[in-house]
Amino acid sequence: MARMGSDGLTWTLETLDAYVENPKALVSGTRMNYRGMADAQARGALIAYLREWSDKPQNIPESEPTARKTDPDLDPAVLGIVGDAEYGEYLSSECSTCHQRDGSDQGIPSITQWPEEDFVVAMHAYKKKLRPHPVMQMMAGRLSNDEIAALAAYFATLE
Ligand code: HEC
Repeated sequence: MARMGSDGLTWTLETLDAYVENPKALVSGTRMNYRGMADAQARGALIAYLREWSDKPQNIPESEPTARKTDPDLDPAVLGIVGDAEYGEYLSSECSTCHQRDGSDQGIPSITQWPEEDFVVAMHAYKKKLRPHPVMQMMAGRLSNDEIAALAAYFATLE
């Protein structure tokens, strides 16, 4: 694999497809000792799934240039929690040290008036470290599912 890398192998749709079809055909001596996936449709489905996690999905057709898998595949029960906006207001004071309550974006994105579901999904993406920002990972990591729902409810209605 290292040798192929120094030869200039990069992962594109074509090379990845060839590798999954038959690893040894592309990288001889690979320790990925599996006999390959002959079914082109199955390979297409697998690669479409992997594309969701790619940091360079532009290499793979049929995706947005900046597409990134950030949806943590939340349990519908978590999405279904009805947030307590009053509790959210109480919790929001530490958020407001960075995020502007009036919704203005001063280098830090606005988080007011979002659809609650998008807010919840974004927070859980930080919590699960799918989104990379360390401060937000820490903030979200400390919050329970109920607290995230409460914050979503509060910020959604904030004028
Ligand atoms: C120390 C500053 C800071 C604090 C405190 C903070 N945030 Fe953030 N937040 C940021 C920054 C910076 C970003 C952009 C991070 C990124 O690039 O992913 C962000 C991003 C977000 C996003 C995603 C915005 C987007 O456009 O995708 C949400 C939602 C969010 N914060 C909610 C909260 C909530 C809720 C709290 C309080 C519990 C909070 N933040 C506390 C700095 C902060």
